[in-house]
Amino acid sequence: MRTCPTIASLGRALSAGAGRKVGFVPTMGFLHEGHLSLVRRCRSENDVTVVSIYVNPSQFGPAEDLGRYPRDLRRDSALLRREGVDVLFTPGDGEMYPGPYRTWVDVRGLDDKLCGRSRPGHFRGVATIVLKLFNLVRPQRAYFGQKDAQQAIILRQMARDLHLGVQLRVLPIVRAADGLALSSRNVCLSTADRRAALALPRSLQRAAAMIRAGATASSDVRAAMVGEIAREPLLEVDYIAIVRLRDLEETDVIAAGDTLIAVALRAGKTRLIDNLLLGELSC
Ligand code: PAF
Repeated sequence: MRTCPTIASLGRALSAGAGRKVGFVPTMGFLHEGHLSLVRRCRSENDVTVVSIYVNPSQFGPAEDLGRYPRDLRRDSALLRREGVDVLFTPGDGEMYPGPYRTWVDVRGLDDKLCGRSRPGHFRGVATIVLKLFNLVRPQRAYFGQKDAQQAIILRQMARDLHLGVQLRVLPIVRAADGLALSSRNVCLSTADRRAALALPRSLQRAAAMIRAGATASSDVRAAMVGEIAREPLLEVDYIAIVRLRDLEETDVIAAGDTLIAVALRAGKTRLIDNLLLGELSC
């Protein structure tokens, strides 16, 4: 594995693989099995696997956890080496945002809903950094987790709108044995918060069971989820949304193939998201 801390060294590493299919897994590090599932799929579908680790400051709001975001580059490198990754790109802020920096990507109409409402500017930061990374890595395929479903929907739109010619693969959520979706932020949870946080996957399991049993009214499913989460006083709900996949608009009727049930909440200081996807996000 070649580790490239600069754009110039990344360029040199990629020129060695010219003509081969490049797959790309962008991450913010502190890797878990969810990331590794993306890396494994990437390796199985491409000739060259590139992973980036960059905690992108522009996707964190001023009151958010940029300073507390967990990091362990040494451990991440060892994991990626073991997975057979070819190139690891680990740029610093000076490489990614050389001053003065003025160019931003807005995916309007999708970036102000759900998480965008409580994290203004977040998806502008995500879309901008992912476009910059795509321009540097030039992948044929890029791999993202379904846990960040809104992110995947926004990036899919960006890829279409800007003719990026990259295929986006969105892979299923990987969960801990107790059902909590894996997230780099889970290490920030106290024992009590983590126990309370399990109401989040429980609420989605409840929704899935209702839908399997034939429920189609969003209001019924939402009410059951609210009830499940309300039992945990340590949780503070940001949103419980039932939306159409194509435009993230709220829907009264749950339609197989075009529905996302998404939850965001706070357990202590830690913001957690999770979802149930009825449809396909890859393109
Ligand atoms: O999903 C993430 O880890 C980040 O949002 C991403 C896509 C690496 C951009 O910083």
